[in-house]
Amino acid sequence: MYIGFVKVGEERAKRTRRLSDFPCKRLRCGAHPLSVKITCVNPYPRTWIEIDLPALAHNLALVRGRIGGAVLTLVAKADAYGHGLVPVARFALRNGADWIGVATVQEGIALRDAGIDSPILVLSPILEVEAQQAVFYDLRLMVERLDLGQAISQAAQEMGRQAITHLPVDTGLARFGASPEDVPDLLAGLRRLPGLKVEGIGTHFADSGFNRERTAEQAATFGALLSKIDREGLMIHASNSAATSKYPEHVHDMVRVGIAAYGIDPYDMFGGLARPVLTWKARVMSLRRRPAGSLVSYSGTFECPRETLVATLGAGYGDGYPRSLSNAGFVTLGGVRAPVIGLVCMDQVLVDVTNVPSVAIGDEACLIGDSATVVELSHLAKTNVHEIVTRIMSRVPRRYRME
Ligand SMILES: Cc1ncc(COP(=O)(O)O)c(C=O)c1O
Repeated sequence: MYIGFVKVGEERAKRTRRLSDFPCKRLRCGAHPLSVKITCVNPYPRTWIEIDLPALAHNLALVRGRIGGAVLTLVAKADAYGHGLVPVARFALRNGADWIGVATVQEGIALRDAGIDSPILVLSPILEVEAQQAVFYDLRLMVERLDLGQAISQAAQEMGRQAITHLPVDTGLARFGASPEDVPDLLAGLRRLPGLKVEGIGTHFADSGFNRERTAEQAATFGALLSKIDREGLMIHASNSAATSKYPEHVHDMVRVGIAAYGIDPYDMFGGLARPVLTWKARVMSLRRRPAGSLVSYSGTFECPRETLVATLGAGYGDGYPRSLSNAGFVTLGGVRAPVIGLVCMDQVLVDVTNVPSVAIGDEACLIGDSATVVELSHLAKTNVHEIVTRIMSRVPRRYRME
């Protein structure tokens, strides 16, 4: 069964016309501009994800309740934390989000090509060679160095446009951003560049979910800097999900919220009111009864302590199910927990369903959802919640529920 992409409308046609104006010829060598992406949909996939869009709207409303009239940027990088970039962004913008935050120019272009015309902020540094594309697609850019600002300014002037930028400040995460002591001069330099507007200034907390002191130190550094610069016309932003919910004083003019919007709450942000947006399911593809003492999966890391009914589920680490959940994770089948046994394989995971009544081939198991929460799985996999969902691969089909 085939379905075509629903949205091949006027906006895409407009974009195609604008592409012909674009000065960089190499960009025109990709897919034919009028090509329509065709997706093969398997009505009985071995594994799939269900996305509950009303839950996303509900969570965005919870965030809105904490930020009043500040701009709500939904952070949708890494395929909207595995939830699907374009459908999530499109829905969120109609249901509470004002801007979309991405990590790369490519993610921004994917949104523009889907007809999304909201402000899009690229949260990570870009390379100078990406400036032309980024300006062409009207992406807001983080600029931490004057030479990058100059490249963006030049690209904007060549296109007769104004590039919009934000200045990231490193207040302690030590990932990127200008040092606070360099910011006044950098800001003045960027403001002098033709074709470039500095619209905002922001920082990012290193541990706002769990470390109050470190967050307070970063906020103090940021606050001291803000008192030294001319803030006129600048949007101030600092807070991610945890800071938005825990520290109303750091909301400023905009928040950049990811994990809270997806209803994943490792920091007790909303007193249990957030609703998970993503459920991950896989079918039982094979069943076998193994005698006590037999080994299960690669390298024989699991030995059946008794006669064991082993179910083989149709998802593995090649789909993004963490291999670190080998002999540690669990799924639910018919509401009953079934432990992961042996090493997780690339395309399958094996679970002990001895205690699950009447299991059959084709049954649905819940890898994430029911009682298998992202928070608990992240503890078992010894990683953070963000990694659990962003790892889910594109070969796992996403199904979107609108109501
Ligand atoms: C700069 C920036 N802001 C905001 C966020 C959103 O963080 P969270 O998902 O914890 O809300 C991220 C995510 O890593 C980020 O890198």
